Amino acid sequence: MTGPRRLVGAWSEDPLWARIYPHLVDHPALGAPLWRLGLGTDISLLHDAAREIGALPDGARVLDVPTGSGVALRGLLPGRHVEVVAADISPRMLERTYAAARRHGVADQVTTALADVGALPFGDGTFDLVVSFTGLHVFPDPHRAVHEMVRVLRPGAAIVGSALFTDDFRGVERRYGLVHAAGRLARVLGPMCSSADAVRWLGEAGAVDVRLEMSGGIGWFRGTKRLD
Ligand SMILES: C[S@@+](CC[C@H](N)C(=O)[O-])C[C@H]1O[C@@H](n2cnc3c(N)ncnc32)[C@H](O)[C@@H]1O
Repeated sequence: MTGPRRLVGAWSEDPLWARIYPHLVDHPALGAPLWRLGLGTDISLLHDAAREIGALPDGARVLDVPTGSGVALRGLLPGRHVEVVAADISPRMLERTYAAARRHGVADQVTTALADVGALPFGDGTFDLVVSFTGLHVFPDPHRAVHEMVRVLRPGAAIVGSALFTDDFRGVERRYGLVHAAGRLARVLGPMCSSADAVRWLGEAGAVDVRLEMSGGIGWFRGTKRLD
């Protein structure tokens, strides 16, 4: 990138927030107080959720979108033969992901892909798991993103993820609205959606047994692609 680095802007331009954010998710001592204060939740939920990748059998194919700085790779175990495709719209984030893969000793199981979640360059039914952590709220079209992520899942496979939602928060939880406003101002948040929208869209896209649970301002969802 030429010229001065931008303070705010789209993720693909690697603005200041895109450089700060990886430290918050990769170093719990830094991130945990902020997640607790700003979102009323525990960052360890994210690290725990990533373990699902490590529970897959050798030969399984996983899509991690958006991969960001590769926090989901914490779940991948060295010496295994799981194939993770780590996709993101930001080239710089993909470099961070690949560095994380090397750090965790799993680079042989990771391929990075520069891709827009709204037009995933993968065939229908080609992944055994799709993980989408802290993602839907940044995508320009979360509805389309849900359809794309379910499209590339094989029937019977799971989609697991988390996002900030625009639910009707009350009392002290209204502070999540401040986080949303700041994110929109910095152009790192998209139009967002409610948790009910996400559940409905997952169902429309072909997921069944959809569950979504809120933890503070973040919702955790899981669904399985319908067997045809
Ligand atoms: C908040 S980070 C989350 C990353 C990671 N999953 C995590 O939990 O730390 C959001 C990521 O979404 C990526 N992103 C934004 N819009 C995207 C799009 N349309 N398609 C793919 N990735 C996108 C950004 O580049 C950024 O890396």
